[in-house]
Amino acid sequence: MAESKSSDAIALLKDDHRKVEKLFKDFEGAKGDGRKERLARQICMELVIHTKIEEEIFYPALEGKLEEDMLSEAKVEHDSAKLLIAEIEAGNGESDEYFDAKVTVLQEQVEHHVEEEEKEMFPEVRKADLDLDALGEQIAARKKELMTEYKLSGTPTPELTTMDEVQI
Ligand SMILES: [Fe+2]
Ligand SMILES: [Fe+2]
Repeated sequence: MAESKSSDAIALLKDDHRKVEKLFKDFEGAKGDGRKERLARQICMELVIHTKIEEEIFYPALEGKLEEDMLSEAKVEHDSAKLLIAEIEAGNGESDEYFDAKVTVLQEQVEHHVEEEEKEMFPEVRKADLDLDALGEQIAARKKELMTEYKLSGTPTPELTTMDEVQI
């Protein structure tokens, strides 16, 4: 890896986005031996960690620096994805007739969310007065911590932060 490679907050979050896109692509082509289930579990873990890091560290740093609507919509999109993640994690994997459809719809939701972050949010963040290197350090440290924890004890059910009106 080149030494000049940026590890500021935006670069790290974009690396995560590319990694998950690749996993979804692998899922599309996967066959047999529970490969799809393993990939789905990995996708869910990566997404739970990524959304958690953004909600704990990145989005709070943007409060007051970006349009409130942009942040609120991003958080609702996270929660909407978490519902599918929780369903996929708790489900019966490939024996669920809707398993592939659930992962595919999750992929579509994540693609939409990533596009908004990268095309609308991140350019605004670059213009704001923020120490993106310091934020990047915090993000990298927290990610390492969560990865270790989840690899040992499994991915927890993600917590919703914007939806509490209904129990379905
Ligand atoms: Fe993201
Ligand atoms: Fe996000």
